[in-house]
Amino acid sequence: MKADQTPLPKILVLASGSGTNLQALIDASRERDFPGQIIAVGCNQPGAFALERAAQANIETFVVNHKNFESRDEFDASLMAEILRYNPDLIVLAGFMRILTTDFVRAFRGKMLNIHPSLLPKFTGLNTHRRALEAGDTVHGVSIHFVTEELDGGPVIAQAEVAIVSDDTPESLAEKVQAKEHILYPIVVRWFCEGRIQLGSDYVLFDGEPLNAPMRLPDN
Ligand code: GRF
Repeated sequence: MKADQTPLPKILVLASGSGTNLQALIDASRERDFPGQIIAVGCNQPGAFALERAAQANIETFVVNHKNFESRDEFDASLMAEILRYNPDLIVLAGFMRILTTDFVRAFRGKMLNIHPSLLPKFTGLNTHRRALEAGDTVHGVSIHFVTEELDGGPVIAQAEVAIVSDDTPESLAEKVQAKEHILYPIVVRWFCEGRIQLGSDYVLFDGEPLNAPMRLPDN
């Protein structure tokens, strides 16, 4: 709750790794006018640094270790049960490295965002920085999209670009893209919490109007 005691939208973040995007969201949520509250962080990797970041911010955490389940369905059912305990308004996938089942995705339709390190629809899946270099692209970037049944295929809300220069490596590109991620994700989460973005049948509504193209973060 903030000064006027209106309950803020509840955000649950799922992460698997170092959690730099989680940290960007935690930092943003500390801003006085941030319109949401991070109520929990879930993780599938017991030792992930994302859990440490959450703990340092006094945010509740839970772990559902995928290695303890025989099937994807069982893992997702257990993850869903944990999530439902918190009754979140928004689930933010921030480097959550598990493919989710159709039932899971449908249960949270319109309430789940993902960040993907490419300019979708280019380079769905893994190794996006290497693939952008191999393709000879001069522009690369990051996309934030609603999660639908199609892997990395849900309607894109916003993108930010980075230029690829001749001496870029997958590592240098990852660093440049991540810097954009940390700016873009808090902006989009803010929009969601303010009720400005919604998922239509297969498109994004922004302020009630279908978005013809993803919102763009200015170059600098
Ligand atoms: C990010 O690059 C994101 O685009 C991808 O996974 C990475 C997560 O990094 N989906 P971090 O854990 O937030 O540092």
